[in-house]
Amino acid sequence: MALQLNETAPDFEANTTQGRIRFHEWIGDSWAILFSHPRDYTPVCTTELGYVARLKGDFDKRNVKVIGLSVDPLGSHQGWAKDIEETQGHAVNFPIIADPDRKVANLYGMIHPAHDEVHTVRTVFVIDPKKKVRLFITYPQTAGRNFDEILRVIDSLQLTDRHRVATPVNWKPGEDVIIVPAVSDEEAKSKFPKGWKTLKPYLRLTPQPAESAKR
Ligand code: BEZ
Repeated sequence: MALQLNETAPDFEANTTQGRIRFHEWIGDSWAILFSHPRDYTPVCTTELGYVARLKGDFDKRNVKVIGLSVDPLGSHQGWAKDIEETQGHAVNFPIIADPDRKVANLYGMIHPAHDEVHTVRTVFVIDPKKKVRLFITYPQTAGRNFDEILRVIDSLQLTDRHRVATPVNWKPGEDVIIVPAVSDEEAKSKFPKGWKTLKPYLRLTPQPAESAKR
């Protein structure tokens, strides 16, 4: 069965452009993004990896490590990295896994044979410091991903881990959030001192809580 939310992300050892790693050990106390691309030296992937490199400061701020993967060998990743820097203006600053025997791709269900029997589709797995899978998305090979959206979901996950809130449609950091229905109005008075707006008893909006408070 395919990997599901909140399951432990499978551990593995692999060769990467930054040396051999054991995945869980590499994640350490950070969050992680593991993402696959179909092939090196292809146009959409080139733009994606350049953009991910450009976001390094945003990932660091959120304590997120990033690692890419394709079934191409190390030498290919290394050669292609020069093209990414040249065309996208950002040097690849994260490891890329070489997975020619598809060991990791199969562990994470990254090959969808009805789409492509040999190469990985575009997957993204967000994994938390406890090594639990918190988000996965799968895109077809012809559609480049929106990594700003991945950052947005990480902001939501990190916020909702700290406070008993959920984030509404198209939420962006700084906007109002939803008090989860399991919190009574009585409890909400102490947890959300800025107050809230009740649109329905199950739909209460409150200003985004300060980052440091705990659930
Ligand atoms: C690309 O990255 O441009 C690409 C890869 C595989 C199939 C189609 C496009």
